[in-house]
Amino acid sequence: MANERVPGQPGMTYEDGPVRAFALAAVLWGVVGMAVGVFIAAQLAWPELNFGISWLSYGRLRPLHTNAVIFAFGGCTLMATSYHVVQRTGQTRLFAPMLAWFHFWSWQAVIVGAAITLPLGITRGKEYAELEWPIALLIAVSWIAYAIVFFGTVGRRKIRHIYVANWFFGAFILAVALLHIVNGAVLPVSLWKSYSAYAGVQDAMVQWWYGHNAVGFFLTAGFLGMMYYYIPKQAERPVYSYRLSIVHFWALIFTYMWAGPHHLHYTALPDWAQSVGMIFSLVLLAPSWGGMINGVMTLSGAWHKLRDDPILKFLIVALSFYGMATFEGPLMSIKTVNALSHYTDWTVGHVHAGALGWVGLISMGSLYHLIPRMYGRTEMHSKSAIELHFWIATIGIVLYIAAMWIAGVMQGLMWRAVNPDGTLVYTFVESVKATWPFYVTRLVGGLMYLAGMLVMVWNVVKTVQAGKPQQVRIPTVLAHA
Ligand code: HEM
Ligand code: HEM
Repeated sequence: MANERVPGQPGMTYEDGPVRAFALAAVLWGVVGMAVGVFIAAQLAWPELNFGISWLSYGRLRPLHTNAVIFAFGGCTLMATSYHVVQRTGQTRLFAPMLAWFHFWSWQAVIVGAAITLPLGITRGKEYAELEWPIALLIAVSWIAYAIVFFGTVGRRKIRHIYVANWFFGAFILAVALLHIVNGAVLPVSLWKSYSAYAGVQDAMVQWWYGHNAVGFFLTAGFLGMMYYYIPKQAERPVYSYRLSIVHFWALIFTYMWAGPHHLHYTALPDWAQSVGMIFSLVLLAPSWGGMINGVMTLSGAWHKLRDDPILKFLIVALSFYGMATFEGPLMSIKTVNALSHYTDWTVGHVHAGALGWVGLISMGSLYHLIPRMYGRTEMHSKSAIELHFWIATIGIVLYIAAMWIAGVMQGLMWRAVNPDGTLVYTFVESVKATWPFYVTRLVGGLMYLAGMLVMVWNVVKTVQAGKPQQVRIPTVLAHA
């Protein structure tokens, strides 16, 4: 597949091979990760679905699901889009393309390593940082390659200004490197077993500093980079307020770093640290909503486009779920609210409002914009298939999160209900029985979301099959700027 030409630079084309590879890998891993999600959702309703096989047990497949959707689906989408955006906004080709290919293959090796070791029960036992030290080392090597290619490309840009999307992608790359290295400090005792370098409550705090910033930088900052490039592109409108985007950037990255303790309310963590986490989480509402408003208002004067452009629907509805999750998060960080929500399915509902609604929809919208252009076309094979995908995914999300919200609040209230004599009104198993219909509803929502992904696969295959080599030049006017 020939590449798009760099405008204004005769004979120079963008280096889009790694972009294509990451984009297709994202779609593939999205299906795999979500299928595992559907399977574990079914296991929660019918536990016998583990068939008595240890590597199909819920405890092993759950981290497989989270790793596959976050690092394989989310990661590959972030890598495809950041390599696409950094070249276009800098009017230059990728720095060190061979290293970008190394990054692609080493990242796929990490994913395959996770898919083998997690079902075997090999794990560090730290949420979102389960992979044992040999794979964690490979992640570090792959990530260094990513950072060199990305920042090298920023460094050789032909446009003086660094467009705001790259700030978000850059912050994501740097912060994840820092988080991975600090939380990954371990003492290996064998090839597949290591112990954390930290102990007790320090270990817990380092883990949730990591875990929360994985949300802030892996699941948020990089996807905001997508928002700042693909929404203006798809809407054919400039960003609503460029000044707000800069304030958004600095406020968001500063605030996220301090909010981690909200995962450790009512634990051995000192009370003042819990309160710091709560206060920064409340403050976090402001930059989150500032960014959301900036994205949504980019459609000012072009709202009509939302009616018949399904890609814009994906991108804008993603932002409304982002707004929802970032309103709910600060609420749940208030200690008295967390006393009710923690340990319940409310948390799972919050997670998937962010994961399915924000991360999933913005990824799909961006990939629908990106993939045809990588194959010499301006549009996907079928616009009505995109529309269908949008509606089944959105209805699926609503079913999923509404079921989890109701189940979560119900569980919290049942667990704390006491009789006048101080005994519990409900046994634990009664709350499990009461949750069952909601688990089945969540499963239906998840199946719809997965079905939408399968529609996407069909559309992508058709688009790629009909694709032809493409040459896109860097615009002269920009190249001389
Ligand atoms: C078809 C779609 C999906 C289904 C059916 C699904 C299902 C599930 C289930 C059943 C759990 C375990 C909940 C529990 O332990 O009670 C879970 C956890 C999780 N999923 Fe998904 N999921 C889907 C898509 C996604 C996506 C796309 C992402 C991220 C981009 C994601 C991120 C997560 C995370 C982070 C957790 C851990 C939540 C926590 O610890 O509170 N999921 N998912
Ligand atoms: C202002 C922004 C946000 C704040 C203040 C926030 C706050 C919170 C709080 C308080 C919890 C529950 C902690 C507990 O009880 O254990 C939580 C869990 C979680 N949130 Fe958020 N949230 C925000 C946005 C998001 C977004 C946008 C996403 C996803 C894209 C997300 C993903 C998660 C995940 C994955 C967990 C589960 C962690 C775990 O226990 O495994 N959050 N969040």
